[in-house]
Amino acid sequence: MPELTVVVPTFNEAANVAAVVEAVDRALAGVDWELMFVDDDSPDGTAERARDIAQADRRVRCVQRVGRRGLSSACVEGMLASSAPCLAVMDGDLQHDPALLRPMLDTLRGGQTDIVVGSRHVAGGGVGDFSAQRQGISRLATRLSRAVLKADLTDPMSGFFMLTRPALMGCLRGGVSGIGYKILVDLFASAPRPLRFVELPYTFRSRQAGESKLDSKVVWDYLILLADKLVGRYVPVRFLAFSAVGGLGVGVHLVTLALVFRGLGVDFVSAQVIATLVAMTFNYVVNNSLTYRDRRRRGWRFLTGWLSFALACSVGAFANVGIAAWLFQRQTFWVVSALSGVLVGAVWNYAVTSVYTWRK
Ligand code: GDD
Ligand code: MN
Repeated sequence: MPELTVVVPTFNEAANVAAVVEAVDRALAGVDWELMFVDDDSPDGTAERARDIAQADRRVRCVQRVGRRGLSSACVEGMLASSAPCLAVMDGDLQHDPALLRPMLDTLRGGQTDIVVGSRHVAGGGVGDFSAQRQGISRLATRLSRAVLKADLTDPMSGFFMLTRPALMGCLRGGVSGIGYKILVDLFASAPRPLRFVELPYTFRSRQAGESKLDSKVVWDYLILLADKLVGRYVPVRFLAFSAVGGLGVGVHLVTLALVFRGLGVDFVSAQVIATLVAMTFNYVVNNSLTYRDRRRRGWRFLTGWLSFALACSVGAFANVGIAAWLFQRQTFWVVSALSGVLVGAVWNYAVTSVYTWRK
């Protein structure tokens, strides 16, 4: 039975699948291994390619997820679909050197280690042809990860590692978020006890075929992951994002008001109505593209979404003013009255729009 399952998350990697199988086969001669592709229904037919190989080689398997996306959650599901005591995660584009799998496994076999991490930042490792800009982002992200990591890892951004099943189950039960790209940060931050880790050097290679899926969304997902690890136990991170957007909306409201009322000389009430509409639209657009990126409304649904958002927030505004007025009449300090109204309005807006505007 397999001792090691190598989980390979893929999205549009059809041209790399066969080469990955060959490279793993070469690297793990003499080991009882299994290769698990977890493909998010790639339009280029990656899953079909993987299944074709699997039909000729039982050691190759493919989990195909339909209607879902996400690197971290794919890795988790791949590891859970395996029965092996040792689990590795490796990219499907050969940027991670499969030759490292063998020393990783030997380290785990020693029994003193929970997880072995391929690192670009220990002696002997390297970032390959990463642009200066991407190196800078990677360094910043690594520094930010210190807030949630319980370990002094040199390369927490690595997506190349191997761990034991008990270590994995501990992290999963510790509350792995499965958000975005950075599964290693997620695992370390969710571990109930600090993981015993070893870092082995590797050099990040150039892509064989296909293209990177890294884009600006990855940055947003990473920030959400960090926030979830820091405070997700107490408040939903989506609510925090929603509230932060609302805070920006207040700024947009004031700037619009200043321009229309002071700048254009429109009467105050009309200016206030215009500013409210602009701020509400701003909030809708930003929430639609960031907070609810995964349930984004487009085309015709974008317009109907705006309507339901505006409707919900109008009711929220009434609740806000009502609660604040009621508290203020009861001799509550004005700041406390106002903030209570704002909080009730925000919770209402969030709750209602999460169900009606951005329902799953
Ligand atoms: N199932 C699935 N779903 N797989 C995905 C998805 C997704 O939504 N997005 C990307 N992948 C797969 C890709 O097909 C590839 O096999 C792997 O995840 C890494 O994606 P790349 O787009 O090649 O990422 P990268 O090269 O910029 O970054 C990688 O290297 C970094 C440095 O070590 C990632 O592995 C990072 O996690 C890693 O930190
Ligand atoms: Mn890559």
